[in-house]
Amino acid sequence: MKKTFFIRTYGCQMNFSEAERLRELLLNAGWKEEKNIENASVVMAIGCSIREKAENRVISFLKTHRYLKNKGTLIGLFGCTANLHKEKILEKIPFLDILCGPNQLNKIPEILENFSNGNVVVMTGENEQPFLECVPSKNDVTMAVPITKGCNNFCSYCVVPLARGKLVSRHPDSVIREIECAVEKGIKSVTLLGQNVNEYGQDFKFQFDFGDLLNEIVNIDGLLRIDFLTSHPEDTGEKILKIMAENPKIVKHLHIPLQSGSNKILKAMNRKYTVEKFLRTVEMARNLMPEISITSDIMVGFPGETEEDFEKTVEVVKNVRFNELFIFKYSPRPMTKAYNMNDDVPQEVKEYRHQLILSLQKKISNQIYEMFKGRICDVLIERKSVKNPCYVIGRNIQGIPVTCSCSENIIGSIVKVKIINHRQGLLYGSICEEFQLQQDPQFQGKKQI
Ligand code: 5AD
Ligand code: SF4
Repeated sequence: MKKTFFIRTYGCQMNFSEAERLRELLLNAGWKEEKNIENASVVMAIGCSIREKAENRVISFLKTHRYLKNKGTLIGLFGCTANLHKEKILEKIPFLDILCGPNQLNKIPEILENFSNGNVVVMTGENEQPFLECVPSKNDVTMAVPITKGCNNFCSYCVVPLARGKLVSRHPDSVIREIECAVEKGIKSVTLLGQNVNEYGQDFKFQFDFGDLLNEIVNIDGLLRIDFLTSHPEDTGEKILKIMAENPKIVKHLHIPLQSGSNKILKAMNRKYTVEKFLRTVEMARNLMPEISITSDIMVGFPGETEEDFEKTVEVVKNVRFNELFIFKYSPRPMTKAYNMNDDVPQEVKEYRHQLILSLQKKISNQIYEMFKGRICDVLIERKSVKNPCYVIGRNIQGIPVTCSCSENIIGSIVKVKIINHRQGLLYGSICEEFQLQQDPQFQGKKQI
């Protein structure tokens, strides 16, 4: 068998980070990545099950590529979807060769090496496996670094604790070692990943929390930026916010999911905070960092959400003025607590509420981006634009993407960029050092990415 693989990833940043780690493992074991799925000897899909739609996407991808089995291609399903409903998946996709949950990826090279056709390999289960350390082989500037697996929160709608198990924090030495190694390879910016980064360290036998981890990471020489997600409103306190405010390397951005503006719904979701507590956290963050970008997730149509509950969410969205919102329609997930509740908000009402918040937020985001016009931002340049190689893309200190044209290679440096326009959450600017402030016609309302 040719040692060539193809990976397709769905879902969250954790999944993408795991895909990256799997890729590095296979490359180190002598495999080659194949960009054309037709030529790969192993096709791997990493699936997400957070909503039914996400799950259907990966199933349909696999079904569409069933024909590849005729030429002996192995087909595998990985990630949360593999862990959640083994039997159901094997029934729906009987042609699978490998089913592997997110905690067993380290075994994949060995499994592939010894694979004998006709046998289905199923590896799912708890998260006792060590964290996969990763040394990036590409010339990237940014890298995602998982610091926890699993989650102890049990929000009533959420499959994550079922798919990924209980919280396991990564030892600080392993996190620091990986980042130091990555910085030696040219990485300038890391995103620390966890379902709830504020839970980091709760399972250690020694006293060490997320704030302590941040305090260590900021001392790594050569690392220019640090950001993290996701923050939980219940646990985001003064300690973390002060560390963020005091350290210039830490990106001034919080992704802090609100889910609902109604205390009744928050309680039914088992979110463990009130709207008032959420608002106090936002206020504290803004007092300490007036420029902070705050983004959030909202779920509409949770069981029992009345028009009045929804109005409360709208009020909070209007008052807080998030930079960006990710808005989801409630999707009942088997095995969760909410699955037994009556999914009583009709689909059309979910759709209407989704659209209403979407358009409200679009206006707010636009107004916020409009205020950047004329400002000078410190932008860490991450990469060339895919669509136009004369342009580069980076992020400012609030983590907002910025693009500008550039004649020399400045990838990996922080440069001053004057913002002249914006579109769809992307700021368009011009590099101050070169001082081409005359407006470039290409910036006029065109998205370049
Ligand atoms: N239905 C809809 N949205 C969900 N999310 C999590 N579970 C569900 C579900 N069952 C949303 C939440 C979470 C985001 C990652 O996905 O808003 O913050
Ligand atoms: Fe990520 Fe959750 Fe989807 Fe798993 S189910 S891929 S943890 S969003």
